[in-house]
Amino acid sequence: MPSEKYLFIAGGIGITPLPLIYRAELLGADSQLLYCRRTRASIAFHEKLSAADGERVHIVPQDECGLLDLAARLGTPRTDTKVYCCGPAPLLAALEAACAVWPPYALRTERSTAAEQAAPVRDTVFEVDLRRTGRTVTVTLGVSVLEAVRRAGAEVLASCEQGTCGRCLTPALEGRPDHRDSRLADHQRAAKDCMFLCVSRSCGDRLALDL
Ligand code: FES
Repeated sequence: MPSEKYLFIAGGIGITPLPLIYRAELLGADSQLLYCRRTRASIAFHEKLSAADGERVHIVPQDECGLLDLAARLGTPRTDTKVYCCGPAPLLAALEAACAVWPPYALRTERSTAAEQAAPVRDTVFEVDLRRTGRTVTVTLGVSVLEAVRRAGAEVLASCEQGTCGRCLTPALEGRPDHRDSRLADHQRAAKDCMFLCVSRSCGDRLALDL
């Protein structure tokens, strides 16, 4: 949902929010980007970001500024602001804790590395019905659902193939997905109505997808 203001926070090698500040500008929203890295020299798009530093872009090299003071940067919880963060797990965990008092859905996070996962719910093959094409594919061990449905001719966008970028999200029509991505919130997992095909699998013998 669009917001009046956005605070984008990038850490590590993740600079996904950079294009987003330009998109927010096109939408007429006020936006700020905090980019945290260990050193200024390790900053991606250094020249471009340095030119904008101090206006909407704030570079926070740890060796110059110390650890990012998230509470101070976030300020008082606001209903007109969305916070979007892409970065390593410790930064996301700190931000989730700091945003606990913010309105629900104010924070959106994207991992630059996949979260550790428990073992899959099942270690046997399962079937996936592609409802739009009427085909059924068998997903064997060691083969992702993405790979299996693509072999059957389904066109699915994908990028990271680690469950972090969000591109392969596909509506699930029946069955219970074994979610193994690093993006969905608990309430989205509980809804069982979508899944990331690159990493997620099935809890049962059969799934149906809107493909
Ligand atoms: Fe990135 Fe599936 S391809 S989440």
